[in-house]
Amino acid sequence: MTDIRVNLKKTEDKSYNIFIQDGSLSHIAAKIKEAGLGHKFAIITDSNVEPLYAKDLSEAFSKNDLSNKIISFPAGEENKNRTIKSWIEDQMLEGKFGRDSAVIALGGGVVGDIAGYVAASYTRGLPYVQIPTTLVACVDSSIGGKTAVDTPHGKNLIGAFHQPWAVFIDVNTLLTLSEKEIREGLAEVIKYGVISDNKLFSFLEENLDLIFSYNKEALTHIIKRGCEIKAEVVEKDERESNLRKILNFGHTIGHAVENLSNYNISHGEAISIGMVAEGKLAVEMGIWNDADLTKLINLIKKADLPTEIPDYMSSGQIIDAMKLDKKSRSGQIEMVLPKSIGEMSQIDGGYGIKIEEQIIEKVI
Ligand SMILES: NC(=O)c1ccc[n+]([C@@H]2O[C@H](COP(=O)([O-])OP(=O)(O)OC[C@H]3O[C@@H](n4cnc5c(N)ncnc54)[C@H](O)[C@@H]3O)[C@@H](O)[C@H]2O)c1
Ligand SMILES: [Zn+2]
Repeated sequence: MTDIRVNLKKTEDKSYNIFIQDGSLSHIAAKIKEAGLGHKFAIITDSNVEPLYAKDLSEAFSKNDLSNKIISFPAGEENKNRTIKSWIEDQMLEGKFGRDSAVIALGGGVVGDIAGYVAASYTRGLPYVQIPTTLVACVDSSIGGKTAVDTPHGKNLIGAFHQPWAVFIDVNTLLTLSEKEIREGLAEVIKYGVISDNKLFSFLEENLDLIFSYNKEALTHIIKRGCEIKAEVVEKDERESNLRKILNFGHTIGHAVENLSNYNISHGEAISIGMVAEGKLAVEMGIWNDADLTKLINLIKKADLPTEIPDYMSSGQIIDAMKLDKKSRSGQIEMVLPKSIGEMSQIDGGYGIKIEEQIIEKVI
């Protein structure tokens, strides 16, 4: 018998920078040129972002002698699928993109997730740059390296971990967002306040009107804190073995609500409902206090986000939906729950807390 060992133990440095700068969109091409990231660039975007920002970006690349092609697909979550991913890859193959290429993901989370996944698999992996243009993408999806597409069996089921080479955030791009999209991102920022930063939570309590009037300083502040918090969590636990689970606050019940509504309730709305419901569970279990929960409910209401599970959803349906979620462990429902605003509870060093179905039935 011959045993041959393939030694692959190595440490790889996947660190990257998140640049947050007003007006940075016009400097990105020069920075990429200077870094020598690649010879050919696929600027992947969607049909809404293309006319707003992709053309200027492409021109800036060309001015810097960086060969590039805009690949734009129809906007919308329903297009974050394998068919569109293959179509993008075919565009790149036909355009003779080789291993010396790089991907630029310009858009919201849909673009970032699908373009990141293309980058993860095209010629077995290309570097990619995230240029997030929604609040959700700035504070959440562009950081952390999770890339994926949806399937008829569920969202984000096919994908890869692939960290970007860099993230460039230009707050100016957020000025064209609808108020609804600001609210979507705000739900995640409220979550960051609860899981890790009571000062951010207070900032939101005091400055919501500035955020809704697209004040660049206020937006930049919440983006900066959101990125810092997500980066810190991902740094410590990239593969979600423990700490990274805290990012799922509001998402266990939230995903169930989102699913049961057939996606008529948006993600931000669903996690707002989820944070309140999970908060109520934490209070019922004696882990959290009523005064903090009331503060959370008030802030969510002030942001014009919902706090109540719709009447047409029963607790049984919600429990069944949670058990099907890819985050549940062997049918047992697990959640992360707050201890105070700014800190999550741990049991025996673990953030994931197993919850009895009876308590869920009682509370929701
Ligand atoms: N990878 C992760 O870790 C992670 C985390 C959170 C969310 N996500 C994913 O992100 C997606 C949601 O992201 P999203 O909320 O950004 O959705 P999205 O990408 O669909 O963007 C929302 C809408 O805004 C438009 N848009 C984008 N930028 C704009 C701009 N600057 N001005 C005007 N319109 C603009 C888009 O075309 C779209 O119609 C989901 O697919 C979700 O699964 C991934
Ligand atoms: Zn979320």
